[in-house]
Amino acid sequence: MANTNWQRKDISIHYLDEVRGAIPFGAVQAQLMLQIVDYFNANPKKIIDLGCGNGFLAEILLKSYPEAIAILIDHSEPMIENARINMKDYLERCEMINGDFSESLTEYADRGTVDCIVSGYAIHHLSNEQKRILYSEIFDILAQGGIFINIEHVASATPKIENYMMNFLLTI
Ligand SMILES: C[S@@+](CC[C@H](N)C(=O)[O-])C[C@H]1O[C@@H](n2cnc3c(N)ncnc32)[C@H](O)[C@@H]1O
Repeated sequence: MANTNWQRKDISIHYLDEVRGAIPFGAVQAQLMLQIVDYFNANPKKIIDLGCGNGFLAEILLKSYPEAIAILIDHSEPMIENARINMKDYLERCEMINGDFSESLTEYADRGTVDCIVSGYAIHHLSNEQKRILYSEIFDILAQGGIFINIEHVASATPKIENYMMNFLLTI
């Protein structure tokens, strides 16, 4: 089991109430996710959200694709409880699983069957070696033409760009 603090209810609630809505360009990122899915795979039938939290990304996708079903995976029970509440309008089309995506993904989906896999701010908890294994499993379960979108913290290409970004974020 990957070791994070997300099993703590106070940390999960703080993230959902105070942090999620304050992520710079969080709404723009979600919009971009939707545009990219639409462009590459305009009719996804099966979606997975890795480290779903309360289902923020899966909810947007299920709302946009009424024929889609989704599997939401998170290893935090407080997050899964919140996802059950937040996704109440989509319960017939989604399954919430308390699970660890650093363990095998093939227990959640057969090879070549998933049209769209998304993840938001979750995969950085893994080591680089675990990330490599996860990406390879993601590739295996994706259907032909399927798409994987990882919305994440990234390192800037150079210290100058990092500095520019940090200063820019202070102005918004
Ligand atoms: C910062 S929150 C992001 C939640 C949601 N994706 C969003 O965009 O708001 C990170 C989530 O990833 C989950 N997580 C981190 N590592 C995980 C793992 N190995 N397996 C399953 N869930 C994980 C945490 O429990 C937490 O709910």
